[in-house]
Amino acid sequence: MAPWWYTASSTLLLSSLSAAAWPYSTYSSMDFQPPQLQVNRTGTTEPGYIFLGPRGGVQPAGQAALIYDDEGNLVYEGPDEVTANFRVQQLNGEDVITFWAGEMSDLGYGYGAVHILDNSYKEIHTVTLTGAFVTPDSSSKDSYIDLHESYITPDNTLLVTAYNLTQHDLTSLGGNSSEWMLDSHFYEIDIATNQILYSWSALDHEDQIPLTSSHQKLGGDVGSQEKPYDAYHINAIATTNNGYLVSLRHMWSGYYLFPNGTIAWQISGENGGDFAQVGNANFSWQHDMRVYNETDEGLVLNLFNNANTPTETEAPTTGVSLAIDLVNKKVTGLRSLTDPSDPIHSVSQGSYQLLNEVNGHVLMDYGSISKVKEYDGDGNVVLSAQFGEDNAVASYRGYRCQWSAVPFWKPSLIVTKTSEGATVYMSWNGATDYDNWVVYSAATTDSANNQQISAANRTGFETTVNITSPPTNYIQVAAFQGTKVLGTSEIVSF
Ligand SMILES: *[C@@H]1O[C@H](CO)[C@@H](O)[C@H](O)[C@H]1NC(C)=O
Ligand SMILES: *[C@@H]1O[C@H](CO)[C@@H](O)[C@H](O)[C@H]1NC(C)=O
Ligand SMILES: *[C@@H]1O[C@H](CO)[C@@H](O)[C@H](O)[C@H]1NC(C)=O
Ligand SMILES: *[C@@H]1O[C@H](CO)[C@@H](O)[C@H](O)[C@H]1NC(C)=O
Ligand SMILES: *[C@@H]1O[C@H](CO)[C@@H](O)[C@H](O)[C@H]1NC(C)=O
Ligand SMILES: *[C@@H]1O[C@H](CO)[C@@H](O)[C@H](O)[C@H]1NC(C)=O
Ligand SMILES: *[C@@H]1O[C@H](CO)[C@@H](O)[C@H](O)[C@H]1NC(C)=O
Ligand SMILES: *[C@@H]1O[C@H](CO)[C@@H](O)[C@H](O)[C@H]1NC(C)=O
Repeated sequence: MAPWWYTASSTLLLSSLSAAAWPYSTYSSMDFQPPQLQVNRTGTTEPGYIFLGPRGGVQPAGQAALIYDDEGNLVYEGPDEVTANFRVQQLNGEDVITFWAGEMSDLGYGYGAVHILDNSYKEIHTVTLTGAFVTPDSSSKDSYIDLHESYITPDNTLLVTAYNLTQHDLTSLGGNSSEWMLDSHFYEIDIATNQILYSWSALDHEDQIPLTSSHQKLGGDVGSQEKPYDAYHINAIATTNNGYLVSLRHMWSGYYLFPNGTIAWQISGENGGDFAQVGNANFSWQHDMRVYNETDEGLVLNLFNNANTPTETEAPTTGVSLAIDLVNKKVTGLRSLTDPSDPIHSVSQGSYQLLNEVNGHVLMDYGSISKVKEYDGDGNVVLSAQFGEDNAVASYRGYRCQWSAVPFWKPSLIVTKTSEGATVYMSWNGATDYDNWVVYSAATTDSANNQQISAANRTGFETTVNITSPPTNYIQVAAFQGTKVLGTSEIVSF
């Protein structure tokens, strides 16, 4: 067990609990081994698929971007890599997939790039950030984008976070005059050119964000270059009418910025900050702050209220919605989502996605606890799903997204000989819209106009058909939506 100050700052560390007990799926037509998504559906869910980026030290495979349907069927598995923020967003009016991929550091942040794919999964943009960043081992990186945010703004630009090491006077916290700490940065980046359009650093605003307000204590051997002090822990940037709202987890606060980067106001989960709390408006160690319905008089702020750390178990994690009244300087709790039959203490990571502003459905991903839950407008759970052992497998965020894709690759086909003929295994990773397969017998490996010998409805990720006495030893399959062909496999001999 690591000392408390180390685990407290290391919010991305997962326990070495064996994840092997969790069931994983295997297929014949693809070499995938994703964790099974166990789904309890108890009500009507919003449309869309579930997007996850599970990772865990001892996971056999399936540490990748994953899409599942509500029955728990795999729809898409991306390349084996550590991902975050895997979801659908709009870029120039088109649905695109976005995700961060890179290395996650034990210090609680990462270095990587943001990948943007079109609806055939072709990578259309790779967004990177370069600059004079300092790292714990002084190594340089290809890109310094941190994992915590990958948000496409209404202006079709990308908001990302970054962590930079710097030496600073921490005598106010009981340290010395030149300790190493992490500064929390964010950047707005032009997606096509990687040009930085806006940058902001928390340490540049030390007068408005005093280090002494941090709930992350300086202690033990923290303060060296290898283990810098993480005073702020930036983890979400929301767009606002005037620019941005920045979430700093270790301050239990969100900061609304003027366009020049100066802080206009602070909402604190501890004491309201610039607002008087009405009812329960508390939150702590939060993630995923988002702004809705902003006017000059006020706004709605949604967030994932972890309320726990790896070393401090306080209260069940909740999904929080707050009304901020800018005129009367009040903050009022509107919603607090939790599953009384399954209270979760999420010590790190997590997300709160408002799915529908009319019916109030919300999808919460519990971060270090490998569960997602969808709540309805009355706060009842309509779906609860799990993809690993608690604290052994995590997904930094999780989303429900509507998505329609026709992959640029062909359907996959494996045919094995049986005593009666052959068994045909077919799948099409990432294809959302096909609902049935047709199996053809081909004369040769490159023949056209092949003869239909069987058909089957789609059954989840992989569909299997037994063929009796096939006319030749060559098989081809095609994926159809109704009577429309969407994709055709190679011809395979067996
Ligand atoms: C990171 O911090 C170092 C040391 O204080 C500083 O020289 C450098 O400019 C910073 N990098 C960025 C991108 O701000
Ligand atoms: C300040 O504290 C850090 C962390 O404990 C240590 O690595 C560094 O050597 C100290 N510097 C001085 C000047 O004492
Ligand atoms: C930033 O803008 C705000 C609002 O216009 C203003 O009050 C403040 O003085 C500005 N700060 C700086 C450093 O220019
Ligand atoms: C909010 O938190 C503060 C300090 O953390 C505590 O004193 C207060 O009782 C809490 N309020 C509610 C309504 O839980
Ligand atoms: C924004 O306001 C509309 C209209 O009053 C309401 O339907 C919607 O639920 C509000 N959104 C949020 C997040 O509160
Ligand atoms: C689903 O329900 C079963 C039976 O009540 C329960 O054991 C399991 O933990 C539930 N799973 C989730 C993810 O809620
Ligand atoms: C596919 O399912 C439909 C009903 O949804 C059924 O009518 C049809 O016979 C099925 N096709 C095959 C090949 O099983
Ligand atoms: C195919 O045949 C095997 C036995 O040879 C059987 O176990 C399997 O269930 C059959 N599969 C389908 C999809 O009919």
